[in-house]
Amino acid sequence: MKKIGVLTSGGDAPGMNACIRAVVRCGVSHKLEVVGIRQGYRGILEEDFIKLGNRSVANIIHRGGTILETARCEEMKTREGIRKANEILQREGIEGLITIGGDGTLRGATALAEAKNVKVISIPSTIDNDVYGTDYTVGFDTAINTALDAIDKIRDTAESLPRPFFIEVMGRNRGFIALEVGIAGGAEDILIPEVETKIEQLCLDIERSFKRGKKSCIVIVAEGDEAGGAFSIAQQVWERLKLEYRICVLGHVQRGGSPTARDRVLASKLGAAAVDALVNGMAGYMVGELKGEIAFTPLRETWEKRKELDSNLLQLVKVLAG
Ligand code: F6P
Repeated sequence: MKKIGVLTSGGDAPGMNACIRAVVRCGVSHKLEVVGIRQGYRGILEEDFIKLGNRSVANIIHRGGTILETARCEEMKTREGIRKANEILQREGIEGLITIGGDGTLRGATALAEAKNVKVISIPSTIDNDVYGTDYTVGFDTAINTALDAIDKIRDTAESLPRPFFIEVMGRNRGFIALEVGIAGGAEDILIPEVETKIEQLCLDIERSFKRGKKSCIVIVAEGDEAGGAFSIAQQVWERLKLEYRICVLGHVQRGGSPTARDRVLASKLGAAAVDALVNGMAGYMVGELKGEIAFTPLRETWEKRKELDSNLLQLVKVLAG
């Protein structure tokens, strides 16, 4: 293999730059030519390529976002899009492709890999952590620490001027972010799509927490909760309790910022492992980390199989809310 491409796709996540840097520098150390593809899969279709060397990725390990930019590309969901992408990659002499992204990126990577023209290895990177085959995705650790910082600050005001707070965190389909920040932020309740939200029970929990002498009550709501986001849930509680409340939607703040040490290290390890995999002739896998060890999962499994939440954590919330 002489030439590889690297792209970031879908929702950006802190640590993507650290990952690009690792891919480029490990690629160069293997004497590979490394091409950056701008704006994800769209960049393949629009032939938006840039040559990357060790100096092009200097001073980016600590930066959020992605220097290659990203996009959500509808055309790559079509047979014609995949055919065209394969043809362009072949014409460019790009024999290996490393994709960095979440669920949508992995689906695109699967379709490209199954056409068998280009060797594809993917790296899981999304703040949502909802990818099967890795304990953590690149970006998750930074996102939960960013959210936690905000939750701690809200706790200060919630304690001083007692009112229940409904804090909405990201996680379109899954509750990984909500669960972790809920535990770490000492939430009174955590509402996630994986567990049916019972408004009556939530009202009881809120009432009881104030009756037990607690001054503040923080409810973490995953944006994808089946009962609605923070606004809808707060309204439903208000209709029953008539208790003044406040809402905070953390939104895209969670996607930005300098990656944590954990994310930089994970990104570096997975970037290096992805290049090694290509050099050793592997293709059609995602490289993740399971129980501290590098692990390869067939691309299709990463989105066809469901990663489970830690149910022990869910049970712990109530006990720890005291
Ligand atoms: O997939 C990552 C994510 O941040 C989700 O948590 C969120 O629902 C979505 O992306 C937001 O996407 P956009 O940036 O397109 O609004």
